[in-house]
Amino acid sequence: MIIRRETSTDAALVREVQRAAFGQDIEADLAAALRSGGHSIDELCFVAEIDGLIVGHVVCSRGAIDGRLSVGLGPIGVQPDLQHKGIGSALIHAVIGAADASGESEIALLGNPDYYSRFGFVASSDVGIMAPDASWGPFFQIRTLSSFNPVGGEFSYAAPFENLDD
Ligand SMILES: CC(C)(COP(=O)(O)OP(=O)(O)OC[C@H]1O[C@@H](n2cnc3c(N)ncnc32)[C@H](O)[C@@H]1OP(=O)(O)O)[C@@H](O)C(=O)NCCC(=O)NCCS
Repeated sequence: MIIRRETSTDAALVREVQRAAFGQDIEADLAAALRSGGHSIDELCFVAEIDGLIVGHVVCSRGAIDGRLSVGLGPIGVQPDLQHKGIGSALIHAVIGAADASGESEIALLGNPDYYSRFGFVASSDVGIMAPDASWGPFFQIRTLSSFNPVGGEFSYAAPFENLDD
């Protein structure tokens, strides 16, 4: 398996992986909207590839914490028959390493703490950051990076996330 940056020519296969991983179109549509709307962060979008086939994908997009630039991770998806083999972990480690190297302060995501805590994600409230929706509780998590500045604030996702409630 290799992890490499996503390119524009990956769009169709990335869509299939996200659709298969989640069993619906919502996350695949979101990933496409983030890219087409210029919200995705090219250096933080990765695919996992085995024998030339894309089997996993993660997108990161530009969010903000009270106006300061931040990073939102997701959606992330791995082809169902290849889950639980470390592909998701490899994608997340790639994001964390690249985001830290490029000077990002933190990465935010909505997900199960049982999974993401192993990568150093903590409840956002632990580091003074409020979720866009207070009902998310400990499922809204933050991975602080070397440049993290603990001034706190409320995280907001890129615009396409807003349409998920429609
Ligand atoms: C979540 C996902 C990306 C993880 O990728 P993966 O390649 O299966 O993950 P890894 O093999 O690196 O890690 C597997 C471990 O994560 C755990 N795990 C996977 N998804 C989990 C979840 N949603 N909640 C809790 N634990 C989870 C597994 O139990 C496994 O733990 P173990 O190794 O201790 O048994 C993948 O399972 C997936 O595409 N799921 C469907 C889409 C989805 O839910 N995306 C994330 C939304 S936040």
